[in-house]
Amino acid sequence: MELYRAILKRRSIRAFQQRRISAKALRHMVNAARLAPSAANLQPLEFLVVTAQTLSDQVFKQLKWAGYLAPKGTPKPGTEPVAYIIILVNKKKVSSAMLKRDEKAILFSFKVDRRDIGAAAENIMLFAQSRGIASCWLGAINKVGIRKIFGIPRHLEVDSVIALGYPKMVSKAAKFSGYVQYYLDSKGTLHVPKRPLNDVLHINKI
Ligand SMILES: Cc1cc2nc3c(=O)[nH]c(=O)nc-3n(C[C@H](O)[C@H](O)[C@H](O)COP(=O)(O)O)c2cc1C
Repeated sequence: MELYRAILKRRSIRAFQQRRISAKALRHMVNAARLAPSAANLQPLEFLVVTAQTLSDQVFKQLKWAGYLAPKGTPKPGTEPVAYIIILVNKKKVSSAMLKRDEKAILFSFKVDRRDIGAAAENIMLFAQSRGIASCWLGAINKVGIRKIFGIPRHLEVDSVIALGYPKMVSKAAKFSGYVQYYLDSKGTLHVPKRPLNDVLHINKI
C-alpha cells in the first residue's frame, strides 16, 4: 500500500479477525520502530512482542478500550487482538556513557524524550496498515499488571501497548462538527471526527 494511502486509511480498530500475523510482519514492525527518529539518537525504546495465546489473554485484561464508547468499544469475545507490541523505555541505557566525548550541549538531553515513543508507534502502525493489519495504540493500561505478567525489570518502564490484528470492523474519518467524540452508527461502523485541514494548516502566518 502506498504510504499516503496507508496514512489516510489507518484508524484505530477494536475488533479483529482471529487470523495470525506472520512473525516476519511483526519483526518488520519492530524494525520500523527501531529506525524511527530519536532525540539525540539515544534510542531508549525496546519492544516486547506478544503472540502466545495465554499471554495475549492476560494482556487483554490490562487494557481499557474506547473511553467514548464504553463498554461498546471493547473487543467482543472472538474479536480480540491476535498480537501486541508493548513499548518499553529502557532507563538504564540513557546515560552519558553512550557518548564518545563529553558534549555539554547534548548532556542536557539525557532524559527520555517522550516524542520518541510517538514516532516509533506511528512507524509500527503505518507499516502494519501497509500490510492490511489494523492496530489500536493503548495508553490506558494497567502497567503494574503488564509488568507482573512478564516479570519486566524496574529499569524498563512500561509505556503503552499496540494491539494488532486483521480488521473485523470499519472505522472512517468523519466530518468535524465541533465535537471530538467518535461514534458508532447502526451498522457498527466507527466514525472519527477529524479537524479539517484548513483549521490546522498555517502557511507563512498564523
Ligand atoms: C497516546 C494514545 C493513547 C491512546 N490510548 C487509547 C486507549 O487506551 N484505548 C483506546 O481504545 N484507544 C486509545 N487510543 C486511540 C485513540 O482513541 C484514537 O487514536 C483516536 O480516537 C483517533 O482515532 P484514529 O486513531 O482512528 O484516528 C490512543 C491514542 C493515542 C495517540
